[in-house]
Amino acid sequence: MVSTIPDAVRRAARSPDLAILIDLDGTLIPFATPPLAARLDVGAAQLVRSLTRCRRTQIVIVSGRPKPELDALFPDPDGPWLVAEHGGWRRRLGSWTGLDLGEATPHGAEERLREVCAAHPGATIERKTWSVALHYRNVPDSDREGTYVDALLALDGWLRTWKEYELLEGRLVIEVRHRSANKGTTLPWLRSAVPPGTSVIAIGDDLSDEDTFAALGSDDVAIAVGPDERPTRAPARLAGVEACRSFLAWLIGVRSDDAVGDPVAMSGLHPVATHVEAPLLVVSNRLPMDDDGLRARDRPVGGLASGVSASLRRRRGMWLGWSGRTHEGARALAVDEVTGRAGFDLSRQEHALYYNGFANRSLWPVLHGFIGRARFRDAEWTAYVEVNERFADHAMELTPRDGVVWAHDFHLLLLARALRDRGHTGRKGLFLHVPFPALDAFETVPHAEQLLAGMLAFDLLGFHTERHAANFARAASGLLGATETIRGIVHAGRLTRVGVFPLGIDADEFRVRPEDELDPEMIELRAAMGDLKLVLGVDRLDYTKGIPERIDTFARMFELVPEWRGKASLLQIAVPSRADVPEYKAQRQAIENAVGRVNGELGEAHWAPVRYVSRSYDRPSLAQLYRAARVGLVTPLRDGMNLVAKEYVAAQDPEDPGALVLSRFAGAAEELREALLTNPYDRGATARTIARALGMPREERIARHQALLAAVQRSSPASWCEAFLEALTSGRWAP
Ligand code: UDP
Ligand code: G6P
Repeated sequence: MVSTIPDAVRRAARSPDLAILIDLDGTLIPFATPPLAARLDVGAAQLVRSLTRCRRTQIVIVSGRPKPELDALFPDPDGPWLVAEHGGWRRRLGSWTGLDLGEATPHGAEERLREVCAAHPGATIERKTWSVALHYRNVPDSDREGTYVDALLALDGWLRTWKEYELLEGRLVIEVRHRSANKGTTLPWLRSAVPPGTSVIAIGDDLSDEDTFAALGSDDVAIAVGPDERPTRAPARLAGVEACRSFLAWLIGVRSDDAVGDPVAMSGLHPVATHVEAPLLVVSNRLPMDDDGLRARDRPVGGLASGVSASLRRRRGMWLGWSGRTHEGARALAVDEVTGRAGFDLSRQEHALYYNGFANRSLWPVLHGFIGRARFRDAEWTAYVEVNERFADHAMELTPRDGVVWAHDFHLLLLARALRDRGHTGRKGLFLHVPFPALDAFETVPHAEQLLAGMLAFDLLGFHTERHAANFARAASGLLGATETIRGIVHAGRLTRVGVFPLGIDADEFRVRPEDELDPEMIELRAAMGDLKLVLGVDRLDYTKGIPERIDTFARMFELVPEWRGKASLLQIAVPSRADVPEYKAQRQAIENAVGRVNGELGEAHWAPVRYVSRSYDRPSLAQLYRAARVGLVTPLRDGMNLVAKEYVAAQDPEDPGALVLSRFAGAAEELREALLTNPYDRGATARTIARALGMPREERIARHQALLAAVQRSSPASWCEAFLEALTSGRWAP
């Protein structure tokens, strides 16, 4: 990439016909220039004049300013072509034409913004043909967020009705603009007036210039102007107005057959970094475990570590979490610069009250909708608050005040509040890996309001599914009186954005190649299975996974469809998890009872209907198991996402794939529509579905698998990380 950028610029600059689209404020002239200044400074005027004279070169000034201001700055009709109001008006050879957008004026939005303006001294309104903007850069600091939020609330209803208008947020300005009046519309207009094959170089510093960049063709070049922090789709960047002017001077040289040097050396043109460079601190309750950290079979597993660790390892930044150990006495933070991990021990009491207590016995069941299993103790709540504060203290040791913090999961709902109390001003996001339940369930938590307010102290909240995000919004409005707007949730004078980011897997890691050596255990399993069809369940040992229910349902299948007796077996892998928590001990017992009962009642000397293994496998072994299974049986009673479902799909042989039976109550069901979706509480129907999966003809299995694999391949942990971090770090900055 890096080496091709100057080449691409050079190629475009030397192409026979060239159009240069250049933004005005912040690009050709300094941003601070008074908007009504009637003349360009000498340097800018000279550059524009020289560019206009270059052979086969068309210069176009693409600005957000209204027509009269541009006319005043460029009075010569033979001067550059002009685009005013972000594309709303275009001037060529001295005459203006406007976009014809019918009756849809932003008058209603203007009226609403005028009311906001009256309530916030310093705010001003700027009305253009197809847009209206509220500027709040002259509003005192302490009232800026309030002004922004009031504008958002005032506009929300109007924007929901006038869908052809969109909301844009710039630096201390909020603007309502017709969707068709953006700088991107410059390109078709330009192309209709220049010779075919004309290359375009587009240069701009503002978010609105990204619309121009997005509309460019593959032979064109976009160049962003300004400091490195702002994300851009342009592949190259100029540091500021001065660098831009020196680049234009070079261009003039090229177009006058007089080029010297290289654009990089001449003007400070440099490639744009392709990833977010702000220091990033990831925080989760549990630190991801290296595979060699423990014997593989004892390794704790879970979707969070599977999803996040690989792709974050590739990023700059630290990961803060509990070490997984308990310890009495001094418990300093152990920072490992090499692995980028910072861990600390919990005291035995914290482990009992915060982790086993409030996190795993109160929040976990409620968030999964199992309110009957939840219990609440004041001391556990207090420990939860205190441990969130400890996490915040450690986070402050690791990150600058304005660093980006990305917290994970239900253990850390109060982290942003605690960080704000400690003076952290950077962006803070939370991704919830578990479901968010309906209000009726969530409100049973004695501290529901504090938890919701804590979550709303983040800048961005991410969920796996639309349903979870909607449940959260409903709870926030029902319990806190928060207001849902098109931009997110407004509460206590601040905005929190809400997004849906379904976590994906790295499908390649689960692809089994014919040349892969078989695990010795797999060889034995194959021998033991003989002609039996394998039905596979892989889960953490958790009551949300519905394992005893699944075993009973599987047994029910042999009653309802007896021809499968002696022809299929269920292999259930249940990795021990949270073993000190009584509900998990009871669950283990329930699974063992179910296995014993079913094998005792149905089994034969030569056939065990259910095999049960209580240990963990590494990925290559899991991939082989998935591939060997004719049916993937993924029937949680409720699950945030369920990566196992996706992994099962990725591991199948495309020529002879297995069938996936998937609970409707797993987040993955929103994406994996071609699975056999089932309600695990309906045991009769689920039993018949398993039989259907076992007997599914090969053509149907192939067709379903193709669709499922396409869905699985649409995302990866890396794309998920990028999407969340992009949403967290771009856009408007809420203090
Ligand atoms: N897993 C594993 N070894 C095992 C069983 C499971 O590494 O023996 C992994 C599995 O590959 C998956 C994760 O544990 O990536 C479980 O994630 P899932 O989203 O299915 O459920 P969670 O445990 O997060 O509730
Ligand atoms: C789920 C949770 C994770 C958790 C994992 C394992 O995936 O969403 O936050 O890490 O289970 O649970 P554990 O309590 O062992 O960390």
